[in-house]
Amino acid sequence: MLMQQVLKKTVLALLLSAVAMMQVQTAAAADPSDDQQSKEYAKFNKAAELVRPTDYREWIFVGAPVTPKDMNDGKPAFPEFHNVYIDPASWAHYKKTGEFRSGTIIVKELISVGATKSASGNGYFQGEFLGIAAAVKDKKRFADRPENWAYFGFDDKPSAMAQPDDACSACHKANAAEDMVFTQHYPVLRAAKAAVKPR
Ligand code: HEC
Repeated sequence: MLMQQVLKKTVLALLLSAVAMMQVQTAAAADPSDDQQSKEYAKFNKAAELVRPTDYREWIFVGAPVTPKDMNDGKPAFPEFHNVYIDPASWAHYKKTGEFRSGTIIVKELISVGATKSASGNGYFQGEFLGIAAAVKDKKRFADRPENWAYFGFDDKPSAMAQPDDACSACHKANAAEDMVFTQHYPVLRAAKAAVKPR
């Protein structure tokens, strides 16, 4: 009787640990960056306009250039802080390959300079939300655009047409460090690229 109980317990323990191991294996296989790889975050309406992204603050933050009014004769091309985010699937792809996949969307959120003094010292501190701009790379949709990137400004509209090339692309093509993107100003992307394992 005693022997039987011990045996039962042992079998039960073995079964439980087998189940636990299977669970661990399933968890390892379901790497979120893998099943996100093909997700498209840039949504277009029937008029082929980019729908204004609303959840970009939950994407990956890559950097925050600032062109304050007081250093640009009161009129920077884009006021003032630029908080830049890349969508999670394209970030996963970039970390693996060091390249912007077709489907990449990058949002630049514009925020005014608020205070110029705080408890930490003098400087530029973020003020109020002003609007967003975006760039989308899509090999099919923007086959005829430079490096397949198109650019969008929203103001307060819910969707936006791609801007003509001379309005946006030309400056990006001439000055950006990598595939039309200003990675020279985004430490997060530079670090990710440096860490890409050779394939
Ligand atoms: C005269 C040059 C110039 C023009 C024209 C220009 N940009 Fe940019 N853009 C920049 C620079 C420089 C950065 C990075 C530094 C910054 O944000 O100030 C940038 C960054 C961006 C980013 C973040 C991703 C990236 O490529 O680094 C987006 C999105 C963007 N611009 C959209 C636009 C849109 C939309 C237009 C046209 C309406 C436009 N840009 C026109 C110079 C330009």
